[in-house]
Amino acid sequence: MKKICIIGGCGHVGLPLGLVLSDVGFDVTLLDINKDSINKINNGIVPFQEEGAEELLNKNLNKTLFVTDNSDVVKDQDVVVFITGTPVDEHHNPKIHEVMNVLDKYIHLLHKEQLIILRSTIYPGTTEIIEQKLQKCFNAQPKLAFCPERILQGKGIEEIRNLPQIVSAVNDNARSEAENLFSKVTSKIVHLKPIEAELSKLMLNTWRYLEFAIANQFYMMVEDKGLDFYKIYNAMSEDYPRAKNYCRPGLAAGPCLFKDTMQLSAFYRNQFFLGQSAMLVNEGLPNFLVGQLEKKLGSLKNKKVAILGMTFKANNDDIRESLSFKIKKELEFKLAEVLPSDPYLKDSYKLEDVLSDCDALILGVPHKEYLDLKIDKPYVDCWNIWK
Ligand SMILES: NC(=O)c1ccc[n+]([C@@H]2O[C@H](COP(=O)([O-])OP(=O)(O)OC[C@H]3O[C@@H](n4cnc5c(N)ncnc54)[C@H](O)[C@@H]3O)[C@@H](O)[C@H]2O)c1
Repeated sequence: MKKICIIGGCGHVGLPLGLVLSDVGFDVTLLDINKDSINKINNGIVPFQEEGAEELLNKNLNKTLFVTDNSDVVKDQDVVVFITGTPVDEHHNPKIHEVMNVLDKYIHLLHKEQLIILRSTIYPGTTEIIEQKLQKCFNAQPKLAFCPERILQGKGIEEIRNLPQIVSAVNDNARSEAENLFSKVTSKIVHLKPIEAELSKLMLNTWRYLEFAIANQFYMMVEDKGLDFYKIYNAMSEDYPRAKNYCRPGLAAGPCLFKDTMQLSAFYRNQFFLGQSAMLVNEGLPNFLVGQLEKKLGSLKNKKVAILGMTFKANNDDIRESLSFKIKKELEFKLAEVLPSDPYLKDSYKLEDVLSDCDALILGVPHKEYLDLKIDKPYVDCWNIWK
């Protein structure tokens, strides 16, 4: 049985992978610095919403799945997977040093017999830099692979098992070991070189971000003219095969799409105009929505405005980089009193209370709990669930 350690193993990407690998019989240790998540997982509690995770956790915990903050475990592993965050800085450039800091923290515990897998979404060229560092440290070729994660947050377990896995590596040894590993959980492996694999993941997320941007741009263009966007959208897409995947407008938020588009832009020396424009459009939508409400009410000053849905996507509890908070800031700047509400968050106003107390509403995220609401106050709903 192979021993696998996942660094960042309690995170949104690390945990589903650890659960799936432990469920096929690998001896998996989740190594993390987040003590709260470690405690929860050790007590059979999944720290965030993830379909099917609790069942796998309770089935495998302390049998083939272990959780720790003790970095010494790294020494005894056959495979070490790195899955920590890869944010961008205030200039929208990748914070490469954060990736390197994590590597530096564990590098003295790694050795050349181990397969080392990078799984975060990384800036193109990062695998090569890490290869050089490891080679210097081992005085030998490392077995290094980059195998990007492409799951949809919340559906990670199902998707790890069903999506093709992109495998890239710095040499044949690493490639075949990584392929063997992932073949135990998914049936299709796709091979690329590391730089190609790094770009593939960024291009996927960027493409999605651009899709949202065009929908959002059209929404703003049409609504700004006082016309009904969805009347046009429905007419042009109904029974029209080439519009089947035409995105609907909505807040394009979360920890990945924005920053990965910016990583790709940085890679192309900030000459990626389409990506930059998409960022301006998507980041401008919250301001536009507040502007729409302001038009309806005349002024937002002293008005009680409810925001329904504070998480970054529907039916999920993750608030990372949620644009509902940008809406909140903009409303406060216009001197409104804001009532944020979200059934997936503990510390927010109750839905019944905000519905009766507010003067107006903005729909932040179309959680299923909102679909059947009958709203009798002025509202802005770019998702069009209330018409
Ligand atoms: N969230 C997604 O749906 C998704 C999907 C595909 C790829 N990704 C990529 O995966 C990477 C991780 O994203 P995430 O959403 O899992 O982030 P996350 O913040 O949920 O998880 C990262 C984990 O790493 C831990 N960590 C940080 N520093 C550490 C250290 N020095 N040692 C051990 N653990 C440490 C954190 O405590 C946290 O639990 C990012 O590159 C992201 O772009 C995310």
